[in-house]
Amino acid sequence: VTITDGNSRILATLPTGESVEVLLFGATVLSWKDATGDEKLWLSEGAKLDGSKAVRGGIPLVFPVFGVAPDHDATKALPQHGFARNSRWEFLGKSTSEGSNVKLDFGLSSESLPAETAKLWPYKFGLLYSVTLDRESLSTTLVVTNDGDETFECQALLHSYFKIKDITDVQVTGFEDSPYDDKLDGAKTKSQSGAITFDGELDRVYTPPGGASHPVSIREGGKERLRIVRDNLDDVVVWNPWINKSAGMGDFEPKDGWKNMVCVEAGSVKGWQRLEKGDTFQGAQTIHLV
Ligand code: BG6
Repeated sequence: VTITDGNSRILATLPTGESVEVLLFGATVLSWKDATGDEKLWLSEGAKLDGSKAVRGGIPLVFPVFGVAPDHDATKALPQHGFARNSRWEFLGKSTSEGSNVKLDFGLSSESLPAETAKLWPYKFGLLYSVTLDRESLSTTLVVTNDGDETFECQALLHSYFKIKDITDVQVTGFEDSPYDDKLDGAKTKSQSGAITFDGELDRVYTPPGGASHPVSIREGGKERLRIVRDNLDDVVVWNPWINKSAGMGDFEPKDGWKNMVCVEAGSVKGWQRLEKGDTFQGAQTIHLV
């Protein structure tokens, strides 16, 4: 494990060559490579990595609100997707089990938030985020704790951007017959038939029956490439901005980068996790190379 770039990034490499890199700003995973050096995550060439804006790509962390929730009093003052992805986290250290993996821990709490952010969401909380690199997988686990007396409600999402060769050749499976909210059609609830394929902008919140028990797969060229196993994260956002939405994002580069990315985001974003004093919520994903 090395700390690079003037204390702003943590790079961990296994003896067999796999690596993961995390930016302390947002505890954003920027890169995940297999033993051959092949990158699994998409990161915009225009992404801001200096803390001036949430990172466009990798795995930004969405907390305590997904998107904006104008009807939810406690979070309505927050920026889109909350403050976790815009805050500098603390690196708490690394550990390994059986020498074959490495786990990096990151923390963010109400005490370490800048005053102007703390004002927007005045609860006492602790976040522990663990990123575990194994030879064949990457896991990211978020634990939220209510450290105060006051109950709060939150949402959380692991906003993973995956690198792919050609979006028109991608299928996302695991949602057969699943209901979803179509964010491009007034959040209308619809039902998925068959695999998800892409031929235009797509922005949906899936809630497959059976909670987090169903694995989700990203397939390319008819072959399964990645399998996402969720723990306690019942919703999955699937997003591709396509041509026009990409054109409108200043930090989205190259402009035709939408062809090479797909977001499959495990989260708890429909409804709210209600945490009373001392309660915790834990949600995780493990992304397996297939
Ligand atoms: C997705 C949302 O999770 O994030 C989309 O479903 C949104 O609606 C996208 O456009 C990117 O959000 P942002 O704030 O990073 O531009």
